[in-house]
Amino acid sequence: MGEAMAVTQAESAGIRKIHPLTIRWTHWINVFAMLLMVASGWRIYNAAPLFAFKFPIELTIGGWLGGALQWHFAAMWLLVVNGAVYVVYGLWTRHFRSNFLPLTPQMLWRDCKMAMRGKISHQPGVYNAVQRAAYLGVIGLLLVLVASGLAIWKPVQFQSMAALIGGYEGARLVHFLAMVMTLVFITVHVVMVILVPRTLRSMLGGRMGSDANEGGLQ
Ligand code: HEM
Repeated sequence: MGEAMAVTQAESAGIRKIHPLTIRWTHWINVFAMLLMVASGWRIYNAAPLFAFKFPIELTIGGWLGGALQWHFAAMWLLVVNGAVYVVYGLWTRHFRSNFLPLTPQMLWRDCKMAMRGKISHQPGVYNAVQRAAYLGVIGLLLVLVASGLAIWKPVQFQSMAALIGGYEGARLVHFLAMVMTLVFITVHVVMVILVPRTLRSMLGGRMGSDANEGGLQ
């Protein structure tokens, strides 16, 4: 009764629930885990670079190769367990089906064109096709990162997966490229959040006021 009243009062004040608690917690835990993964991963890369450059040491954690590996594995467990909670929740509650689908090439093309013209609308609680594709894409990228990481870590135990990715060296390249693509996603994602800061309010507190109903760039 009290809760129903609270909902009614919130609704009459024009406040809408946007992101469930589980989505918000898993999102921010994922951000923390990714930060640790990238910073320690860059330190591991520096010990045996694939290309003719190294990452600035100030942007890395772990101090030395062994320390960075410990950070990388610890954060990997956080990333994987948290990711599993997110995926199970998303499937169980139909969050993925109702918020990321439908997604067709036509919808994506239309929203890409709108985005180029700076006219794409962002209704609170409804992802546009560009967002749907980006979020599904980054979930796929994280799966590739974990799979290629496992192939690098245990190339013997996970040899069929390693063979599929191109062996140990292939897995290193795939892992690096997936990291770069994930960082491209994060950069664009954060720029979009800066352009439409009200989305941050709902990802932090779960709710959004009715003043947030105008369209915008996201
Ligand atoms: C400081 C960094 C980040 C900020 C400020 C941020 C902010 C946000 C916000 C505000 C939303 C909600 C968008 C909306 O309601 O329209 C969102 C959703 C999302 N973000 Fe981030 N994000 C960050 C980092 C990341 C990272 C590192 C990833 C993954 C690698 C990520 C993946 C996602 C996904 C998949 C969603 C959709 C969640 C869902 O509805 O299931 N974000 N983010």
